[in-house]
Amino acid sequence: MSKQKLIVLTGAGISAESGLKTFRDTDGLWEGYNVYEVATPHGFAANPQLVLDFYNMRRKDVAHAKPNAAHIGLAELENDFDVHIITQNIDDLHERAGSTKVLHLHGEIFKMRSAKNSAKTYPIYEDIKLGDLAEDGSQLRPFIVWFDEPVPMIEEAASITKTADIFAVIGTSLQVYPAAGLVNYAAKTIPKFIIDKKIPYTSTLQNLTIIEKGAGEGVADLKNHLKNLL
Ligand code: APR
Repeated sequence: MSKQKLIVLTGAGISAESGLKTFRDTDGLWEGYNVYEVATPHGFAANPQLVLDFYNMRRKDVAHAKPNAAHIGLAELENDFDVHIITQNIDDLHERAGSTKVLHLHGEIFKMRSAKNSAKTYPIYEDIKLGDLAEDGSQLRPFIVWFDEPVPMIEEAASITKTADIFAVIGTSLQVYPAAGLVNYAAKTIPKFIIDKKIPYTSTLQNLTIIEKGAGEGVADLKNHLKNLL
């Protein structure tokens, strides 16, 4: 029998126990930085150095971080389920934990792109410097989907979510669209789970199990619930 399709939407909260800051928690990144300055195309045009510095720091943080029990638990679920991760995170901790199907909605910190052409991407593990140019002559910038930019992967994410047999949401405040809207693409009747240390508001979802815990502990609980669905 083919495996049931488990779709998991993750956000910054799943990487918090790896030491990476979330955005909107107390002491989150958006308390220390102005979103408009560091995460919009306008901010980049106004002060590219500030934006490059911000993401160069993020890249160093991710390079030093390790997958935690939640990332590892999700990777282990591939033994029994067809797991597809849709992440808003730009880190690679799902991949390093061993997950094989990971769709990044908001870009990837270990990639950079031409400022002119979002499809021209290159790997980057060091700093991006002002004056580093893509083949088309434009400044290289982080491969991050900023506010006010389209989210090209959303269509694929929505299509996969529609085909889910089980849907889980982990560690996201569900405040950023279109990502947050994905919860409404999961079929009404399928089992749904939400794991967060402080459960965010969601529109009324049927068949929802709430696990109000940190991601590591929460994924362990999720695995126990899922055993009953095998
Ligand atoms: N375990 C589980 N959940 C946690 C933990 C933890 N240890 N720590 C924090 N959380 C939860 C918070 O309660 C919150 O609901 O993680 C969520 C983090 O929310 P945000 O900081 O808003 O992060 P996210 O939802 O991923 O942000 C979405 O916003 O700025 C952008 O592009 C950025 O992808 C990001 C998007």
